[in-house]
Amino acid sequence: MKKLLIGIYILIMIGIVFAIGNSNLFDNENSKAIAAGEKVYNKNCLICHGETGKGEGKNAGTALNNQHFLNSVSDQDLYNYIKHGREGTAMPAYGPRLSDKEIKNLTVFIRNWQTEKIDLEAPKSITGSPENGEKLYSLYCLSCHGEAGAGILKMGPALSNPQYLKDTADSQIWIDTAYGREETRMGPSLKGQEGVRQLRKQDISDIVSYIRSLEQNNAPSKTAE
Ligand code: HEC
Ligand code: HEC
Repeated sequence: MKKLLIGIYILIMIGIVFAIGNSNLFDNENSKAIAAGEKVYNKNCLICHGETGKGEGKNAGTALNNQHFLNSVSDQDLYNYIKHGREGTAMPAYGPRLSDKEIKNLTVFIRNWQTEKIDLEAPKSITGSPENGEKLYSLYCLSCHGEAGAGILKMGPALSNPQYLKDTADSQIWIDTAYGREETRMGPSLKGQEGVRQLRKQDISDIVSYIRSLEQNNAPSKTAE
């Protein structure tokens, strides 16, 4: 009996040592990916998104090191944004320039900037009136995001960009609009947040419906002229 107990004890110890060893191995892999991603970032992205990722680069780039942004996107979203870029804006598509591994390492590097877990909630179903949304957009958003979401350099990114709309869920547009992005010009719009706009939830859904409607306007027209 005693021997059996000792045997079990040894097995458990081996199990624990193995588990710890394994998690170290994983951490190692992760820090390797972060270091590799940082190199690619410094070479390709720093000039626009900035040394600390707050959008302070020499050229126009948004803040990626931003807790609201990082809490609203998945790793897959980040990967898609980097791979596909946004044609017609300053953001190049890196699919043709970097390997899949390099883009994944970049994703791990950017994710490593996330230091907080913030619950940003969007309504389960986002439907609304694009007409009312357009009115609100013209009042509250156009000054930075431009006519029909075309974007204004160094003021606000393009919202009508087809690649942006393709890679971005309604819930994320809702969250960006409602909660804004701390320490950027993009302040919160939801009533009760410290923002200037104080919109109701339905107003924000209306604006999202309007932004989503810009997708069709943007599609290359099938009938010539
Ligand atoms: C020439 C400047 C430039 C370079 C170089 C650049 N970006 Fe961007 N990036 C931008 C701009 C500008 C936007 C916003 C696009 C818009 O106006 O709609 C953007 C958007 C993004 C977004 C989406 C952010 C959001 O708020 O939705 C990610 C992620 C991103 N860039 C990552 C990268 C990474 C990673 C690299 C390097 C491999 C990189 N970018 C290189 C200018 C740049
Ligand atoms: C004072 C200028 C300003 C105003 C007004 C403003 N925004 Fe923004 N918005 C920005 C900037 C700057 C960013 C990019 C922040 C960053 O660097 O991450 C942004 C980002 C966004 C994004 C994320 C875009 C992306 O590429 O991921 C959405 C969605 C958005 N704004 C919607 C709105 C809506 C809707 C309104 C009106 C209710 C509005 N904004 C009003 C400046 C503004």
